[in-house]
Amino acid sequence: MTKTLKDMRPATQLVHGGTLRSQFAETSEAMFLTQGFVYPTMEAAEARFKGEDPGFIYSRFSNPTVAMFEERMAMLEGAEAARATASGMAAVTASLMSQVKMGDHVVSARALFGSCLYVVEELLPRFGVESTLVDGGDLDQWRAAMRPNTKVLFIESPTNPTLEVYDIAAIAEIAHAHGAKLVVDNVFATPMQQKPLQLGADCVVYSATKHIDGQGRCLGGVILASREFIDTHVHNYLRQTGPSLSPFNAWVLLKGLETLPVRVAHQTASAAKVADFLADHPAIERAIYPGRADHPQAELIKRQMSGGSTLVCFTLRGGKAAAFAAANRLQIIKISNNLGDAKSLITHPATTTHQRLTPEGRAAMGINDGMLRLSVGLEDAQDLIDDLAQALA
Ligand SMILES: Cc1ncc(COP(=O)(O)O)c(C=O)c1O
Repeated sequence: MTKTLKDMRPATQLVHGGTLRSQFAETSEAMFLTQGFVYPTMEAAEARFKGEDPGFIYSRFSNPTVAMFEERMAMLEGAEAARATASGMAAVTASLMSQVKMGDHVVSARALFGSCLYVVEELLPRFGVESTLVDGGDLDQWRAAMRPNTKVLFIESPTNPTLEVYDIAAIAEIAHAHGAKLVVDNVFATPMQQKPLQLGADCVVYSATKHIDGQGRCLGGVILASREFIDTHVHNYLRQTGPSLSPFNAWVLLKGLETLPVRVAHQTASAAKVADFLADHPAIERAIYPGRADHPQAELIKRQMSGGSTLVCFTLRGGKAAAFAAANRLQIIKISNNLGDAKSLITHPATTTHQRLTPEGRAAMGINDGMLRLSVGLEDAQDLIDDLAQALA
C-alpha cells in the first residue's frame, strides 16, 4: 500500500504538505499575488459561485498560496480543516465571535495574553455576550462557571508568561457535558509539543507570528478544527468580515513550516539548559520551565505535552530594579515582547505585555515585579547561558 503524506511524520508533512504546483512545476511553493481569478466563461463563473466547481474566487477568502499554508497546517495538527488569518488576534477573535450571539456566555481562564483578555472581558460583553474568568487550573471553578447558555470555553496552555499548564482533556469534558465547545490557543506549546484536538478540544488557534514564522518577518494566524466547525462557524465569518492573510505572508509562513520541527527542537533543548542554569543561580528566586521536574504541573505535562517549551519564566530576587538591571546588561539576548523567534528575546511582563492589568490582576495571574519571560532562540545555548551569567553577576 502506498503511504500518503497524511500517514507520514511531521518533518515530512511540513516540507511537502499542501503543495499546489502550477503548470511550471516549480520546486518551491509559488506566491500567488492576486486579488481575483478569471473564469473562461460566464457559465464557469456561475458554477464557481454556486460551489459546483471547486476553485478560487477572491483572495479575501481563498487564494492558492494561503490554501497551501492552511492545508499544511491542517495536516500537522491532524485537523480536518484550517483557515488562515492576518494575525493571531484575528484568529482568536474570529474563533470566539463566530460561535456566539447576544445572550450567550463564554468562560475563560484568567491567565490570557492581554489582547485575548480584552476580547473576552471587554469586547464580547459589548455585544451582549457575558464572560466569566476562572482560575484555569481549578476544575471546580470551571464546573461552577457553567450556565445553560455557556457556548465557549477558552484557554491558553502553557500560559503567558507564567507557563502554567491546564488539563485540556478535563476542561474539554466539562465543556462537552454542557454542550459547549473548547477553543485552545496553542501558541506557547507550538504544534510540535501539544495536540489539543487529540485531547478533546474543538478548535485550536495560533499566532503564526510566533514559532511558525519563527524569524521575525510577518504576522499571521490560523484556526484549525473539524470541517463541520469551520463550515458552520468560521468560514462565513472570515469570508464576510475579511481579516485575511496576505498571500505574501502565507508564503513566508509556508517556508517557516519547513524548518519548524528543527527550530522548535533546538530551541526547546536550549531552553531546558537555560532553565537549569537559572534555577540554580543565587540571584534567581524561582525559575519556571515546563520540562523540569519541579514544575507544579509536571505530571500533567508528561501526559499532555510531548516536549517542554521554548520559553523560560524566572523571578529575580530584588524585584523590578534587579530585573531591569539584569535585562539591560544582556548583550546577545534582546529586549522584545515577541516570542518564538530565532533571536532570544526577553521581556518584563509587568511593565509590557501585562501592563494594562491592575497590580491585583497581575498578582492573580502570578506575575510579580521581578519576573522576566525569556524566549529562547537559535543561538548556541552556552552563549546564552554566558550572557545571562554576566548579566546576573
Ligand atoms: C498566546 C498568544 N495568543 C495570541 C497572540 C496574538 O498574536 P498576533 O500578535 O499574531 O496577533 C499572542 C502574541 O501576540 C500570544 O502570545
